[in-house]
Amino acid sequence: MAKSSNKYFLFIWLILIAILLIYFTNALISGDDKTLFMPGALTDGHHQIGMACEACHQNSFDNREQIVNSCIKCHGDERKKPFDSHPKQKFTDPRNADRLQKIDALNCITCHVEHQPDITKKTGLTQPVDFCVHCHDDIADKRPSHKNMAFDSCASAGCHNYHNNRSLYTDFLIKHLDEPSNLEKAILPKREFSALLDEIVTYPHSQYPVKPLTLDDIDKPENIASTDNINNDWLQSGHSKKGCNCSSCHQQKSNDKNPSLWITKPDHNACASCHEMEVKHFKRGKHGMRLEQGLSAMMPEMARLPMTANSLNEELTCNSCHRAHKYDLVSAAVDACLGCHNDRHSLAYKKSKHFDLWQLEQADASKQGTGVSCASCHMPRISYDVSEWLSRIMVQHNQNANLVPNEKMIRSVCIECHGLEFSIDSLADKNLIEHNFNGKPSIHIQSMDLARKDHQRHLEKTKSDE
Ligand code: HEC
Ligand code: HEC
Ligand code: HEC
Ligand code: HEC
Ligand code: HEC
Ligand code: HEC
Ligand code: HEC
Ligand code: HEC
Ligand code: HEC
Ligand code: HEC
Repeated sequence: MAKSSNKYFLFIWLILIAILLIYFTNALISGDDKTLFMPGALTDGHHQIGMACEACHQNSFDNREQIVNSCIKCHGDERKKPFDSHPKQKFTDPRNADRLQKIDALNCITCHVEHQPDITKKTGLTQPVDFCVHCHDDIADKRPSHKNMAFDSCASAGCHNYHNNRSLYTDFLIKHLDEPSNLEKAILPKREFSALLDEIVTYPHSQYPVKPLTLDDIDKPENIASTDNINNDWLQSGHSKKGCNCSSCHQQKSNDKNPSLWITKPDHNACASCHEMEVKHFKRGKHGMRLEQGLSAMMPEMARLPMTANSLNEELTCNSCHRAHKYDLVSAAVDACLGCHNDRHSLAYKKSKHFDLWQLEQADASKQGTGVSCASCHMPRISYDVSEWLSRIMVQHNQNANLVPNEKMIRSVCIECHGLEFSIDSLADKNLIEHNFNGKPSIHIQSMDLARKDHQRHLEKTKSDE
C-alpha cells in the first residue's frame, strides 16, 4: 500500500515539474512574461518597465558594467555638475581615489541595487541612510558647527542630498537670506509657445501656415464622419486659430509611396511634429516611460500609487489630460489629475490656500499666473533653450523631473512666490505635504541659520582685515 502511494506521489511530482518546465520555457521563448525570471520586484522608479529587462540588462543578466552603462544612458544628463554634488570627476580625481575603497561611488549599483524591495527606500536607495560616514567621518573637525550631528541626519533632515543640492548650497542660501514667507510678486511666468511660433524653425510652417481657419477650411476626407461637437470644439481651440487643420493630427504625411490614411484615434506621435519637447519630456516621466520602451501605454491599473476605480483601464497618453478637440488647459491642470490620482496628498489639494488662489485666477478675480494648480508644482513652466538664440518658457511634461529629492521643486516652483527658508521648511515637513500644504510648516531646518552665521563671520573677517 505505502509503496504504491509513493509511486503515485512521484508520478504527480513528475507531472507538476513537467508542467512548470513547459510553462517557464514557454514564457522564456514567447517572451510573454519575463518578470517570472526576476530575482525580486523592481523599485517604484522602474516597476513600470519591468517587462523590458533589456533596458537595463542589455544582452546579459550578470554583466554589471552593462547595467551601469544603461543607468547612465537614461540618467546621465543629471549626474553632472551643477546637478550632481558627487559626479564621476570627483572620484577620478586621484586625491579622492582612496575614498572609493570604502564605498565604490563610481558604480551606481553600490547604492541602487534592484530586485530587493526589502532593503529599498522610497528614493530607490539601497544603502543605510548614514552611508555618508564612509567619506565624511572628519566633518566635525572641518566644520565645528556639525559637531554633534548624527550621520543619519545629513540627508534626511532637509540639509543635504547626495546628488542634487542646487537649492541647498551655502551660496544659494546666502543669496536668499531673510526673505519673507510670501514674496510681494507671487506670480508664475507666462507660457510662450504661441507667441514665439514664427521663430520656431522646426515648426511645419510650410504645411500648416499660421493663420485662422473657419469651418469651410476643414480638410477631412468626405468619407469620414464628424460631428458638430467636434467641429465646433476645434473651431474654438487654439489649433484652428493657428492653422492646424484636421489633417495635421489625423493624416500625418508618411511618404510618397504610402498616401497618408485617416487615423481615427491619433496618439502622441501625431503631436510630435509640432510639440516635440512636450512628447520627449512626457516619455521620460512615469506617465509616459512605458511608451519610451515600446511597451503599451501606462494604465492606473498597473500603478503602485492609489488610483480611482473609474480610471483603472484608461491609457495614459496626451489625451488623458487634454481630451481632443478642446485642449482646455484649465481642466488638464486639476480635474484631469484627480480623475486618476486618489492618494491623501492629491485629495487634500482642494482644501488648500493654493486651490483658493487657483479658483480666483479662473474667475478672473486675480492676475493670470497667481493660482497654484497640481500642474503648477508637478508640471512647472520652465525656461528651455530652443536654439542658441532662442529660449522659451515651456510646460515641463515630465512630472518626475522635480519630484526627487523634493527640494528640486524649490527652484522650479516655490521661489517664484515664497522665500527660500519658508520653502525649505515646508518641503521638509512630510505631514504638511500629506495635507497638500494646508497650514504652516511645523518644523525648522537649521541650514539657513548656519549659512547666516557663516555669512556674518565672513563679513566680520573682511571688516577686520581692512
Ligand atoms: C531598472 C533596471 C533593471 C531592470 C528593468 C531589470 N533589472 Fe535585473 N538587475 C538590475 C540590477 C541593478 C541588478 C543587480 C545587480 C547586482 O546586484 O549587482 C539586477 C540583477 C538581476 C539578476 C541577478 C543577476 C546576478 O548576476 O545575480 C537577474 C537574474 C535579473 N536581474 C533578472 C531580470 C529580469 C528577468 C528582468 C526583466 C523581467 C530584469 N532583471 C529587469 C536592474 C534591472
Ligand atoms: C530605460 C531607461 C532607464 C534605465 C536603464 C534606468 N532608469 Fe532609473 N528611472 C527611469 C525612469 C523613466 C524613472 C522614473 C522617473 C523618474 O523618477 O525620473 C527612473 C527612476 C529611477 C530612480 C528613482 C527615483 C524616484 O523617483 O524614486 C532611481 C534611483 C533610478 N531610476 C536609478 C537608476 C539606476 C541606478 C539605474 C541602473 C541600474 C537605472 N535607474 C536605470 C529610467 C531608467
Ligand atoms: C554613494 C551612493 C550613491 C551612488 C553611487 C549613486 N547614487 Fe543615486 N542616489 C543616492 C541617494 C542617497 C539618492 C536619494 C536622493 C539624493 O540624496 O539625492 C539617490 C537618488 C538617485 C536618483 C533619483 C533622484 C535624482 O536626483 O534624480 C537617481 C535617478 C539616481 N540616484 C541615479 C543614480 C545613477 C545613474 C548613479 C550612477 C551613475 C547613482 N545614482 C549612483 C545615492 C547614490
Ligand atoms: C564615496 C565617498 C563619498 C560619499 C559616500 C559621500 N561623499 Fe560627499 N563628498 C565626497 C567628496 C570626495 C567630496 C569633495 C571633497 C570634500 O568636500 O571632502 C564631497 C563633497 C560633499 C559636499 C560638498 C559639495 C560641494 O560641491 O561643495 C557635500 C554637501 C557632501 N559631500 C554631502 C554628502 C552627503 C550628504 C553624503 C551622504 C548622503 C555624502 N556626501 C556621501 C565624497 C563622498
Ligand atoms: C490637435 C490634434 C487634432 C486635430 C487638429 C483634430 N483632431 Fe480629431 N482627434 C484627435 C484625437 C487625439 C482623437 C482621439 C481621441 C480619443 O482617443 O478619444 C481624435 C478623434 C477624432 C474623431 C473620432 C472621435 C470618436 O470619438 O471616435 C473624429 C471623427 C475626429 N477626430 C474628427 C476631426 C475633425 C473633423 C477635425 C478637424 C475639424 C479634427 N478631428 C481635428 C486629435 C485632433
Ligand atoms: C500642425 C502642428 C500641431 C499639431 C500636429 C498639434 N498641435 Fe497642439 N498646438 C499647435 C499650435 C500652433 C498651438 C498654439 C495654439 C494657440 O495659439 O493657442 C497648439 C497648442 C496646443 C495646446 C495648448 C492649447 C492652448 O489653449 O494654449 C495643447 C494642449 C496642444 N496643442 C496639444 C496638442 C496635442 C495633444 C496634439 C496631438 C494630439 C497636438 N497638439 C498636435 C500646433 C499643433
Ligand atoms: C498629466 C496631464 C497632461 C498630459 C498627460 C499631457 N499634458 Fe500637455 N499640458 C498639461 C497641462 C496642465 C498644461 C498647462 C500647464 C500650464 O498652463 O502651466 C499643458 C500644456 C500643454 C501645451 C501648451 C504648452 C505651451 O508652452 O503653451 C502643449 C502644446 C501640450 N500640453 C502638449 C501635450 C502633448 C503633446 C502631450 C502628450 C505627449 C501632453 N501635452 C500630455 C497637462 C498634460
Ligand atoms: C489617466 C490617469 C492619470 C492622469 C490623468 C494623471 N496621472 Fe499622474 N500618474 C498616473 C499613473 C498611473 C502614475 C504612475 C504611478 C505608479 O507607477 O505607481 C502617475 C504618476 C504620477 C506622478 C509620479 C509619482 C511618483 O511617486 O513618482 C506624479 C507626480 C503625477 N502622476 C502627477 C499628476 C498630475 C499633476 C496630473 C495632472 C496634471 C496627473 N498626474 C494626471 C495616472 C494619471
Ligand atoms: C504646492 C505644490 C504642490 C501641489 C499644488 C500639488 N503637489 Fe503633489 N507633490 C508635491 C510635493 C512636494 C510632493 C512630494 C514629494 C516627496 O517628498 O515625496 C508631491 C507628491 C505627489 C505625488 C506622489 C505621491 C507619492 O506618494 O509618491 C502625486 C501622485 C502628486 N503629488 C499628485 C498631485 C496632484 C494630483 C495634485 C493636485 C490635486 C498635487 N499633487 C498638488 C507638491 C505639490
Ligand atoms: C504662484 C505662487 C505660488 C507658488 C508657485 C507656490 N505658492 Fe505657496 N502660497 C502662495 C500664496 C499666495 C499663499 C497664501 C498666503 C496666505 O494667504 O497666507 C501660499 C500659501 C502656502 C502655504 C501656507 C498655507 C496655509 O494654509 O497657510 C504653504 C505651506 C505653501 N504655500 C507652500 C508652498 C510650497 C512648498 C511651494 C512650492 C512647492 C509653493 N507654496 C508654491 C503662492 C504660491
